[in-house]
Amino acid sequence: MDDPRFMLLYGVLAGILFASFRKAVYDRKMRLAVANVPIVGSSGFFASWWDGFRFIHQAPELIQRGYDLYPEGIFRVARLFRWEYVVCGQKLIKDIAGAPEHVVSFTEGIEESIQAKFTMGRERAENHYHLDVIRTTLTRNLHNCFPDVRDEIICAFDEVLQLQGSEWKSHPVLPTMMAIVARVSNRLFVGLPLCRDKAYLANNVAYTVDVMRSANKITLLPPFLRPIFAPLISSKNKSNTKAVEILGPLIEERLAKEAELGPDWPGRPVKLLDNVYGHEDQRTVLPLTLRILSINMAAIHTSSTAFTQALFDLTTHPEYLLPMREEVEHVVAEEASCESQRVNTNGSLVMARKVIAKEGFRFSDGTVLPCGSYLAAASRPTHYDESKYENAAKFDGFRFARERAEHQANHEANDSQVVFKRQMISTAVDHLPFGTGKHACPGHFFAATELKAMMAHLVLNYDVKPEVEGVRPADIVFSHRLSP
Ligand code: HEM
Repeated sequence: MDDPRFMLLYGVLAGILFASFRKAVYDRKMRLAVANVPIVGSSGFFASWWDGFRFIHQAPELIQRGYDLYPEGIFRVARLFRWEYVVCGQKLIKDIAGAPEHVVSFTEGIEESIQAKFTMGRERAENHYHLDVIRTTLTRNLHNCFPDVRDEIICAFDEVLQLQGSEWKSHPVLPTMMAIVARVSNRLFVGLPLCRDKAYLANNVAYTVDVMRSANKITLLPPFLRPIFAPLISSKNKSNTKAVEILGPLIEERLAKEAELGPDWPGRPVKLLDNVYGHEDQRTVLPLTLRILSINMAAIHTSSTAFTQALFDLTTHPEYLLPMREEVEHVVAEEASCESQRVNTNGSLVMARKVIAKEGFRFSDGTVLPCGSYLAAASRPTHYDESKYENAAKFDGFRFARERAEHQANHEANDSQVVFKRQMISTAVDHLPFGTGKHACPGHFFAATELKAMMAHLVLNYDVKPEVEGVRPADIVFSHRLSP
């Protein structure tokens, strides 16, 4: 303690902490003064801090209250260390969906939402080239690869559920679905035999859970403390090392083949892994491994959550089981899944963004959000809006089928747009499970195909019931996130 070097170090640290704290206070005051957007909750400096705490467990109620007051407008709610601007109504959500990246940043929105630099690493956080690969190559290959997806679903359900004869067996739904989704997704990401490697799959699931949990914890810290404590919270280094150990040899083998035989060598697999290294500086083991790991995270978390919710709905409304069995290969597996996504959004908010243009961002109603504002669309209240969905709070497995039929009856039979209306693959300003606009989830075609095929397999081959009959397990709330 007497060592002057320690004294200096403590002094510097104290200075940095003090300066950062002053900046946080200044930022907060400035936003109170600048943006002319109504506040839901308290506007007082200290009271709004208290609201920030309430947001952690009451975000869905706060956001719904704001939506009820301003269904076509923007309001803000206090979070612990910043304001959240919540955008409602078709017109304004369209504004975000079409805003240019250098004005309203998707990258910065993701960064804040999952604290990507701390939970996934700086390189992954700043470079999003994998989005295009998912959007183009993976999606285009879906049709050809569907037999693989189906094959993997059959094997994965068999092996993960381990059922014999007609016995009933109890499974915790989310972890079970994570195991299955990880396996099915990796059939297209890395292929056989790695997609069945237990250590590889366990690492991907552990990483997925860690990213979400660490992000939740890190957002509870003031921004200036995050760089100090985040490395103690996130286990990304452990997962990265394990992933390199398992995936490394395969990547090296593929790169060596390419170096020897050229990029189009005969028999070259068409897995995501073989296409995700478009950039020269990414063609080594570490960046490629991290990229595959992060795509796994994006796919496993969302798809297993969606399937779990759909299963909860199916077991709470068993009357859908029979019609689904009867028509499973056609539409019904899709209908119920689509409705389940409407009723059970992953959270109250979607399309997290940050305004990064110095002059701020002007919405079409004239509202200007200053540079540095964090905003998102009110997804759950939109899905529960009676003016958009009749009996919106009710799970109605055939809602979308009816809507499409009505729409078709009222329009030209050959109106090709009808085909795309209200399907699981559609994104729209009033149907936001995948977001909407140019940054809508790049994996949504894959997700919809995978989930529908899984649901079809499940209803055809298994009976399901909940642990307590008639009771749907409540979601876990953490800030705006809702998890089954
Ligand atoms: C039911 C399943 C899924 C849901 C509900 C979902 C939803 C979303 C949403 C809401 C976004 C943000 C959109 C925005 O901010 O505008 C997103 C981004 C993203 N999704 Fe999905 N998604 C699903 C499945 C998948 C799958 C299977 C993949 C991969 C094949 C994937 C890859 C991504 C990626 C890479 C991003 C960009 C953000 C990031 O890099 O973390 N998603 N998804």
